[in-house]
Amino acid sequence: MTEKGLYIQMYSIHGLIRGHDLELGRDADTGGQTKYVIELGQALSLDPRIEKVELVTRLIKDKNVSADYSNPKEIINDKFNIIRIKCGGGKYIRKELLWPHLEEFIDGSIFYLSSVKRLPDLFHGHYADAGYVCGELSGFFGIPFIQTGHSLGKAKLRKLLADGMEMDDVEKKYRINHRIKVEQNVIDTANFIITSTKQEIKEQYGEYEITSNDKFKIIPPGVDLEKFYPYNENNANGNDAAALKASITEKLLSFLIDMNKPLILSLCRPAKKKNISGLITAYGENKELQIKSNLAIFAGIRTDILSMEDNEREVLTEILLLMDKYNLYGKMAIPKSHDAQLEVPELYRISAETGGIFVNAALTEPFGLTVIESAATGVPIVVTDDGGPRDIISNCKNGLLVDVSDPKNIADALNKILDDKKLWKEFSESGIKNVNKYYTWSAHVNKYLELVPNILKNNSDKDNKLVEIGKKLLRAPKLIITDIDHTLIGDEGSLKEFNLFLQKNRNKVGFAVATGRNSKSAVSVLNDNNVISPEVIISSVGSEIYYNQNNKLVYSKGWDSYISFLWKRDKITKVLSQFDFLKPQEDDKQEKFKISYYMDENENNLEKIKEALAENKLKTNIIYSQGYFLDILPHRASKGKAIRYLAFKWNISFEDIMVAGDSGNDTEMLKVALCGVVVANYSPEMENLKENKRIYFANNSYAGGILEGIQHYNFLEDGFNENFE
Ligand code: GLC
Ligand code: MG
Repeated sequence: MTEKGLYIQMYSIHGLIRGHDLELGRDADTGGQTKYVIELGQALSLDPRIEKVELVTRLIKDKNVSADYSNPKEIINDKFNIIRIKCGGGKYIRKELLWPHLEEFIDGSIFYLSSVKRLPDLFHGHYADAGYVCGELSGFFGIPFIQTGHSLGKAKLRKLLADGMEMDDVEKKYRINHRIKVEQNVIDTANFIITSTKQEIKEQYGEYEITSNDKFKIIPPGVDLEKFYPYNENNANGNDAAALKASITEKLLSFLIDMNKPLILSLCRPAKKKNISGLITAYGENKELQIKSNLAIFAGIRTDILSMEDNEREVLTEILLLMDKYNLYGKMAIPKSHDAQLEVPELYRISAETGGIFVNAALTEPFGLTVIESAATGVPIVVTDDGGPRDIISNCKNGLLVDVSDPKNIADALNKILDDKKLWKEFSESGIKNVNKYYTWSAHVNKYLELVPNILKNNSDKDNKLVEIGKKLLRAPKLIITDIDHTLIGDEGSLKEFNLFLQKNRNKVGFAVATGRNSKSAVSVLNDNNVISPEVIISSVGSEIYYNQNNKLVYSKGWDSYISFLWKRDKITKVLSQFDFLKPQEDDKQEKFKISYYMDENENNLEKIKEALAENKLKTNIIYSQGYFLDILPHRASKGKAIRYLAFKWNISFEDIMVAGDSGNDTEMLKVALCGVVVANYSPEMENLKENKRIYFANNSYAGGILEGIQHYNFLEDGFNENFE
């Protein structure tokens, strides 16, 4: 751990997230995960071992949602901020549609990181999309990452297919295959994966390929103890609580005849898998229970059941029909609404005060936040023998697990607790005590921070081997970028000198090449000529960017995704096949984003090509060099544009970039940089650049010209960024 305290960056990309008034339940993407990340961020920021926590999420600028979500930086407290990054336009869209925009998100994150003076110690992804982003960032910076899945694609797919949805439709709506592929990759590469329960590891992650179980750490989320305090404890907000209690009691009294009987409480979304009908049947079939207790079901908010979605409408209709069937009038309450933030804690406490019980009868329950919330307030529980409730009962010892598939089991368990006041009290006290021990955010943070020293240690072992290209680019913001053929290479003596110069100044300056060759051929010519290995290779005339990580080339998917815009390779080839004066270059010179020909010098030819492409509405970038080479690139690609992209992404200002070249495909990049150098052996098409005051024409040829340029601009005068920590 660093002496300064940890800097943790959490990513939760989709959804509407802000520091106050979370819109929980607004849609499928604004639920448990949003609450979890905000509460975790808050809890982390309270720990003295933490210096800074950032929650990085998508910036949404959409008149249909609150303007809060368009604030690039929301300060939550002095250690916790929400950082919002743009991707895929401003409109709020559901998470499944965000996949194609994640490269843009990653670039935005890197740009943000290049503006802060310190890099995070740890990335933490929430859900598959953020896992992908953290995996990529982790690769760039050599910083470890941990992952919380929140839910997994395979389980979802299984459920949807079981519900009768067609595979094609699942794929179309949820991009499920891509999600699953990403999840597998995250499982393989994350340093740790945090789950809420044992069952999540076994049943959910168990469907994926797992090489090591040590990666998984069970750290359940915490409950907000200030809100969910015990029923028999006074609270500072006594007045508000009393008023709330009165308003809830009033709601219940419109259903119940005798409010003094123990209140059996259930609280969940009106979804089939929650098995509300099982609980009502248990109560309805058991006369004894009806005499001893009331039943209250809070199942979301409704105004008109007929206008609700199918699933919800069916569940609510069934509830009302069962109430009628068993004639539960006066004994059972099914209020139309409740306030999720304010009223819920009071509901549990009302149930506890009457000697009631909280029930979760769901057929499956991955976690069950309501189960620990109710435990915290001192209501004993009767819960489904599955997932979260299983772990909770084994930690809290505050109630009974039941096989909820048979309503009789539910009724028996309820009777057992209601009939034994001593047992009720034991469960109540034990729940309160053990929630404090196992299910608080501070307990969560303690376990979380126990993981971190390990992660950082393992990573620093790895660190020594990694070049950590990202860190390096941020640290040495001066950058020399040179073309290879006829610029860097051509004269052995001056190339040797240039190499020595680079070796001596390794800390002060980054080194990159920009070439018409593809990456493989670039690497081999650099090796053959004993050139120092560059940090970045811009290859295929700027249509590819590779980062060099310990001599392993890492392809920039961000650049790929950016330039792929409007690129129609096949159509271009077809349109150009009409010209006899074009001779296609060899196969190994054709690349994903580069179509290359040989073409003799002739003004008309170039014009004809431009016209034909324009007629077919094909947007491209046409580059002609040395009176012989013709390259057709995507509209957004060129050596110059690749440099502009790198500068933007890594926050390097143009005056800190020196560019050297000799021929046509170097023209654009020479114009981009404030320090441009043309070596003396240049091709004739460079002549017109002489009017450009910012471009220096050297008297020396090849690498000698580059060295002359460095001197001319006094380029390394104040190279190293001392401010960087
Ligand atoms: C390199 C490439 C060739 C390209 C030329 C000009 O020679 O191999 O494909 O056309 O540079 O950019
Ligand atoms: Mg050249």
